[in-house]
Amino acid sequence: MNVLILGSGGREHAFAWKISQSPLCDNLFVAPGNAGTAAIATNLSIGYNDFEKIAEAVLANNIGLIIVGPEEPLVKGVRNYFEAREDLKHVLMVGPDEQGAMLEGSKDFSKNFMVKYGVPTAKSQTFTKDTLEEGLAYLSTHKLPIVLKADGLAAGKGVIIAQTLDEANETLKEMLVDAKFGDASSKVVIEEFLTGIEVSVFVLTDGESYKILPEAKDYKRIGEGDTGLNTGGMGAVSPVPFATEKFMLAVEENVVKPTMAGLKAEGIKYNGFIFIGLMNHGGEPLVIEYNARMGDPETEVVLPRIESDFLALMIATAKGELHEADFQVSKQHAVTTVVVAGGYPGDYGKGAVISGIDTISEATVFHAGTKLEGDAVVTNGGRVMVLTGMSNTLERAIQKSQKAAHDIAYDGKYYRKDIGLDVLRYS
Ligand code: AMP
Ligand code: GLY
Repeated sequence: MNVLILGSGGREHAFAWKISQSPLCDNLFVAPGNAGTAAIATNLSIGYNDFEKIAEAVLANNIGLIIVGPEEPLVKGVRNYFEAREDLKHVLMVGPDEQGAMLEGSKDFSKNFMVKYGVPTAKSQTFTKDTLEEGLAYLSTHKLPIVLKADGLAAGKGVIIAQTLDEANETLKEMLVDAKFGDASSKVVIEEFLTGIEVSVFVLTDGESYKILPEAKDYKRIGEGDTGLNTGGMGAVSPVPFATEKFMLAVEENVVKPTMAGLKAEGIKYNGFIFIGLMNHGGEPLVIEYNARMGDPETEVVLPRIESDFLALMIATAKGELHEADFQVSKQHAVTTVVVAGGYPGDYGKGAVISGIDTISEATVFHAGTKLEGDAVVTNGGRVMVLTGMSNTLERAIQKSQKAAHDIAYDGKYYRKDIGLDVLRYS
C-alpha cells in the first residue's frame, strides 16, 4: 500500500521510520516532511492544510492510507473533505473528523463532554466577552493558583496558570477583550488547579474498539527542573513508573470507557488517536485535556516500544477492524531528548548547519525542524531534532539519549540535561 503522512515534525518522522519498516508499505510519502523523512520517504512540498493539493497528490500517487499527524488539519476537517469527495472517499485515513477533533479544538466542548459523560476532570466554568463581569466575580471566589484556558487552538500557548488574583483578572481581560489569542480566546475556560504528577495516555480507536498504547511522560518547560516557559515538549520517557497497573486500570475504567461511550452517544464516529493528558492525583486519574492526535515528542518514545507492524495496526484502525488487531510492547525504556534552536520558545534563527548526525550510533535520530539545503541539513524550526535512546535500564536509556543530544552540533543548540532524572528517582 502507498501511504501518506501529513506533517513535518519529529512525530511524523517517527511515524515514517516505523511504517517504512513494514512489509505492507510500498511507497511512503510525507507532506511536507523534513530532512529526516526525505531520507526514508518522498517528501511532497504541500502544506498539511492544503486539502486540494493533498487530494491531487493522493490520486496521482495512488495513495491508499493517510495518517494525519498534527491537529490543525483535523480541526479544519480533512477527513470530512475526503469523505465528501466521490473520487476520494475510498482512501483510508487515521484521524478523526471535524466533530471528533473538537475534543482538542474546543476546550469548552471537551469540558462539557467530560462533565456529561462522567469523565473525572477539574471543576470549571466558561466565559465570553459578554460574561466578563461574571468571569471576574468567579475568579475572586476561587483558590489560587487558578487556570485560564483559551477555548480554541493556540499552538500550546493558550493555558495560563495565574498565581495571583491580579494576574488572573488581567489574563481574563486580555483573552476576552483584547483577543490575545484571536478567535481562539473568544471563550475562556476557567478551571481549578490540579495537583499531582502528569502522565499522557494514548488510545487508538476505530470508533468501536480501542487499544491503549504505551504511556509517556512529557517535559513541557524550557528549563531544567521544569522551570521557564512552556514549549511543545523538550523530552519524554516511556514507560512511566508511577503509571502502575492499578493506575492504568483506573484510567481505562474511569476515563477511556466513558470517553468511548460518550463519543458513541454523541454520534461521533471517532477514528484515530486520542491523547489523554492526565493528572495522577493521589492515584486517581483526572483529565487535563484531550488531543485528537499523537503527542510530539511522546510519539518518539511510544512508537519505538511497539514491536509489531505499526502499519498493519494503522490499516486495521482505518478499516474499522481494530478488534482483530494486536500488538506487542517492548519492556525496554525509551527516553528522548529534544535539541532546540537558541531562543526557542521565543524568537529563534533558522538555517544553521547541523553536523554530527552520522556519528550517532546508540540513539535513533528523529528530525523535527530541519531541511535540506543542497547536501547540508540545516535548522528550520524551534525544535530541531529528537534523540531517542532505548535500553533495558532507564539509566542507560537516558545516557544514550543525552549523549546523542550532546553530539549533535549547530550554532545556538540547547537541550535539557535532566530528562528522565525525576522518573529515575521513582524506579
Ligand atoms: P493543556 O494545553 O490543557 O495541556 O495545558 C498545558 C499544561 O498546563 C498541562 O500540561 C498542565 O501542565 C498545565 N495544566 C493545564 N490545566 C491544568 C490544571 N487544571 N491544573 C494544573 N495544571 C494544569
Ligand atoms: N507534547 C505535547 C503535545 O504534543 O501536545
